[in-house]
Amino acid sequence: MSGVRVRAALAESEIAQVLAVVEAAAAADGVAPLSEHAMLALRAGRGGLTVTAEDAGGEALVGYAHLDPASEDESAAGELVVHPAHRRRGHGRTLLRALREEAAGPLRVWAHGDLPAAAKLAGAEGLARVRALFQMRRPAAEPLPEPRIAEGVTVRTFEPGRDEEAWLAVNGRAFAHHPEQGAWTIDDLREREAEGWFDPAGFFMAERDGRLAGFHWTKVHPDGAGEVYVVGVDPDAQGLGLGRALTLVGLRHLREAGADPLMLYVDESNVPAVRLYESLGFVRHAVDVMYGSAAG
Ligand SMILES: CC(C)(COP(=O)(O)OP(=O)(O)OC[C@H]1O[C@@H](n2cnc3c(N)ncnc32)[C@H](O)[C@@H]1OP(=O)(O)O)[C@@H](O)C(=O)NCCC(=O)NCCS
Repeated sequence: MSGVRVRAALAESEIAQVLAVVEAAAAADGVAPLSEHAMLALRAGRGGLTVTAEDAGGEALVGYAHLDPASEDESAAGELVVHPAHRRRGHGRTLLRALREEAAGPLRVWAHGDLPAAAKLAGAEGLARVRALFQMRRPAAEPLPEPRIAEGVTVRTFEPGRDEEAWLAVNGRAFAHHPEQGAWTIDDLREREAEGWFDPAGFFMAERDGRLAGFHWTKVHPDGAGEVYVVGVDPDAQGLGLGRALTLVGLRHLREAGADPLMLYVDESNVPAVRLYESLGFVRHAVDVMYGSAAG
């Protein structure tokens, strides 16, 4: 019989056992089961849900779940993994139910890799596929066309202390239907400006008639990957090819800065954006699927 325990902290030996489960799952599934953020929490021993079961050698840790409790803006989110040698024995279901109980409200579950087992388990527990996020990549060295900037449009870089309000307004308008991006406040922006990776030289602003019309904010990761962090075009300026032109300006900047590969995250449902990135040589590299209850 499996037993789930909710742990506020993990001992070194348990962290090692969970890491072994994670490693075995990654090898069997071809995709890491936990996000970077859940791995950071795990390595720091910040608790989680563990499931143990009888094994040949006695009681063994065979599964783990990470939970981010609900915050003011978002419902609780979880991730879970079962050791490949212990699957189809109900541990995944037990962990998922325990996560839902712990969440004490709507729960979103992130599954990495869009694996059939995850889809089946979520479905069996009444959770629906809410969204999927693609990570797309391309090598920096492949050809990149010249950006074609529309008549009357000029491109410059972000000026900290001066451009915040204009950027927030255009970001809000461009992402009016995507609140997790469009609802950013001055604090969200300032928090990122304070990050070590923030570089205004990689944050491009397109102006038309003296007003901000679109932007491309790039980010270079510590591992050298260059990300299309956020691209947005004001609805008034859409249709001029600004999205494509700004994307190219940023990609060329990333390549000149030595970043490789070039990468980005895009929602599966954002078909125009996926098409644009495909036309620029990006291919799907990984996918994360979010399952949730209809209410959550
Ligand atoms: C998804 C995962 C957690 C399932 O763990 P598990 O312990 O094997 O799942 P359970 O034995 O509790 O399965 C419960 C139900 O899910 C469904 N299910 C799970 N794996 C399945 C598979 N490979 N094929 C078909 N259905 C499956 C079935 O309905 C199953 O009930 P049943 O055995 O009575 O038919 C495991 O495969 C895993 O760790 N995958 C990698 C990480 C991941 O994708 N996590 C996200 C989970 S949403």
